[in-house]
Amino acid sequence: MTAFRRVIAAAAGWLAVAIMPALAADLDKATIEKALQAAYTQYKGLQDGANADYIPALAKVDPNLFGIALVTVDGKVYSAGDVTTQVSIQSISKVFTMAMVMDESGVASIEKTMGVDATGQVFNSIVAIEQYKGGEMNALVNPGAITATSMVKGSGYDDIWNRILTTYSEFAGRKLTVLEDVYKSEAETNQRNRAIASLMAAYGRITTDPLRATDIYTRQCSVGVNAKDLAQMAATLANAGKNPVTGKQAMKAENVPETLAVMATAGLYDDSGKWLYHTGLPAKSGVGGGIIAVAPGKFGIAVVSPPLDAAGNSVRAQKAIADISNALGGNPYAVSAQ
Ligand code: DON
Repeated sequence: MTAFRRVIAAAAGWLAVAIMPALAADLDKATIEKALQAAYTQYKGLQDGANADYIPALAKVDPNLFGIALVTVDGKVYSAGDVTTQVSIQSISKVFTMAMVMDESGVASIEKTMGVDATGQVFNSIVAIEQYKGGEMNALVNPGAITATSMVKGSGYDDIWNRILTTYSEFAGRKLTVLEDVYKSEAETNQRNRAIASLMAAYGRITTDPLRATDIYTRQCSVGVNAKDLAQMAATLANAGKNPVTGKQAMKAENVPETLAVMATAGLYDDSGKWLYHTGLPAKSGVGGGIIAVAPGKFGIAVVSPPLDAAGNSVRAQKAIADISNALGGNPYAVSAQ
């Protein structure tokens, strides 16, 4: 090779290194934006489902609210629609309280205290408690979730609550607050959850005051979040517990696999199997209309849209997340042969 050719070859090599990642990143950006926009346009007009109304404040939320956000593990944020209006986090909170308990008391504490299995029953089933004596269920249905809240360490109500809110805020990358009207509305109508907590105490699963645990749980469900917050929370799970936007480690990396496993098993309640079959993604829904889903090592995605199907999962959110994930290769089980 002549000296001239060597210079050209070196320059070409340098260009490949310098330019190719930028082109790849551009391509990714365009693909992600296109996938989000396509899902937003396709499902914006979908009118199926209805807001939850067993918590009166939820019935008043605008059913047309629709926002999609995706955060990659390298901290890039993409969105379509309304990603700033807040809804209550509801059951999505259960994931992050469960993660706190794993971090504080060890991953075994969750399996031992309330189990890691699907119940095959609705999320607030009393039959399921009776059937399994408060065990062999999971931290994402109400009995297990209220029990997980009762296990969060702290010196009293305020200390426990502040620690929960701080953890959620670290996942979301901003200081979250409670939607007081939702908290009040649910606290006035949560007789069933109080009964569930009392029964879990009767079976020795809750060992602190069950009514205090129910109240803190009700407060955690009333935390306000938008689609962007939720996507960042999901992306933190996708990124081994480290918030990819702020760089803050919000939970121990070693407990992320078990957290995702429980989400895969029970994140969409009775429809968890169907969801996993179609998407392969660990996910969690809330009756406020949010769903988060995690493509491990790739991205977190969230959609907010209040109308729910019969299983209690947002209709538009399920469709939008499934389409976007399929377009972006999010399914962790879909691998190519070597
Ligand atoms: O305890 C409840 O009923 C609500 N705070 C949360 C339920 C929920 O989000 C179930 N989601 N699909």
